[in-house]
Amino acid sequence: MQAIPATYNDKVVRQFAVATVLWGIVGMLVGVIIATQLYWPHLFEGIPWLSYGRLRPLHTNAVIFAFGGCALFATSLHVVQRTCHVRLLSDRLAAFVFWGWQAVIVAAAVSLPLGYTQGKEYAELEWPIDILITLVWVAYAVLFFGTIAKRRVKHIYVANWFYGAFIIAVALLHIVNNIAIPAGPMKSYPVYSGAVDAMVQWWYGHNAVGFFLTAGFLGMMYYFVPKQAQRPIYSYRLSIVHFWALIAVYMWAGPHHLQYTALPDWAQSVGMVFSLILLAPSWGGAINGIMTLSGVWHKLRTDPILKFLIVSLSFYMMSTFEGPMMSIKTVNSLSHYTDWTIGHVHSGALGWVAMISIGSIYALLPRLLGRQQMYSTRLIDTHFWIHTLGVVFYIASMWIAGVMQGLMWRATNADGTLTYTFVESLNATYPYYLGRLFGGLLVLAGMLIMAWNVWQTYRASEKPVEQPLLAPDVSEARA
Ligand code: HEM
Ligand code: HEM
Repeated sequence: MQAIPATYNDKVVRQFAVATVLWGIVGMLVGVIIATQLYWPHLFEGIPWLSYGRLRPLHTNAVIFAFGGCALFATSLHVVQRTCHVRLLSDRLAAFVFWGWQAVIVAAAVSLPLGYTQGKEYAELEWPIDILITLVWVAYAVLFFGTIAKRRVKHIYVANWFYGAFIIAVALLHIVNNIAIPAGPMKSYPVYSGAVDAMVQWWYGHNAVGFFLTAGFLGMMYYFVPKQAQRPIYSYRLSIVHFWALIAVYMWAGPHHLQYTALPDWAQSVGMVFSLILLAPSWGGAINGIMTLSGVWHKLRTDPILKFLIVSLSFYMMSTFEGPMMSIKTVNSLSHYTDWTIGHVHSGALGWVAMISIGSIYALLPRLLGRQQMYSTRLIDTHFWIHTLGVVFYIASMWIAGVMQGLMWRATNADGTLTYTFVESLNATYPYYLGRLFGGLLVLAGMLIMAWNVWQTYRASEKPVEQPLLAPDVSEARA
């Protein structure tokens, strides 16, 4: 019989953690470039592969799937091992998942600037890359669930439930939304058309937010917040209610992206109602995370990693309050097509997703390198403040710009004519685009500080040794 290795597979986790930082820098750099292009539209004029239309999907794909994706792979593969007390199912499968995902990222980074796209937001990649994604994802699912199946503890910690739901839902979304008929090596036509196509796309788009940008990161929250605070989660029971409520509600909220379109009116209303319901479980979950600090609030003063984790939850609460409000038809009639949506997106993306990822990677990396902490805690603190300031600049600029645009577009004179031309609203927006660019630069600077800190932590560490399987840790203790 084959002997069970008595150590964890930390190599793949380290690889994904480093990739998170690298792709974070690349994705945010492209974000800064497109923010610059919105202020100086003539930048790169005449160079097709640097045009805004091609770089924008490059940004969204890089930050969501490369930066966010690698953070999710790193943490899920770490958490599943530590909470199940076993090594990953297979080292070779783990290596395939890592290199396969990097191949997907490189394929995206080449094909998007070249102009290959399916034209579906967040699902731009053409069919050969979609097939590669499917293969990698199936391997990831086998690796994750296979590891759970051979766990040495009976209980499955709640973080794994969130990661598991994320893996299953993303597989379903990816396959259904990308069913297409190939018409060449890099060209395809979707099988859906018209309003059905729009509905499938936004069922996908919204659940990409719900499961890729939320459920997986909640898995991160449920492991790293208790771990870093050295406290059990505030209420384990609430975490179970949180899980099932989110899973039951998210799938129905997609039509809020299609208010006032050709979609049947009842479907738009269903989307609105389920979005409003979503507020409750989202806040319940966030409060569960924040209240985990009960009795140890003072740690926030000295531990910048906890600051990242807890402030990310505040941004999560903010965006999950704002989202339901924006789904109300009358509010959406003001916010849709304006930069308010962009502000909402980035309060979720930069505030919630990026901050929880950054905090978790800072918490995780030193442990994987056999150290107590990162090379410099002061630099983590600096990163925290620069990032927070950057996010505030970004989203405040977009909120003001968005509401202003909405009001200018709907303003009418006594005789019924429009008060402002579109160009007037654009002119009024420029100062806010500069504010956003400044915020983006701050965020990017923070990521460069992180890269330096990670590099120095590596340099100061011995060659990593494989860590033995551990006894149950604090994050597993139930309230
Ligand atoms: C330095 C940081 C960043 C900057 C400067 C930046 C900038 C931008 C800009 C200029 C746009 C286009 C807005 C428009 O079309 O009007 C955009 C879109 C977007 N960004 Fe970022 N971004 C950053 C970070 C991120 C991160 C970390 C994420 C996700 C984790 C993200 C997710 C998105 C998404 C989903 C969109 C599309 C929004 C929509 O279609 O409504 N961004 N970003
Ligand atoms: C209760 C939770 C949430 C609800 C009900 C919600 C609702 C909405 C609504 C109504 C829109 C505007 C649709 C439009 O007018 O086009 C929107 C856009 C968006 N939201 Fe949320 N939101 C929630 C949470 C989040 C979070 C946490 C994130 C990010 C991590 C996020 C990311 C996005 C993105 C990327 C878009 C832009 C989609 C696009 O047009 O490309 N949302 N959301």
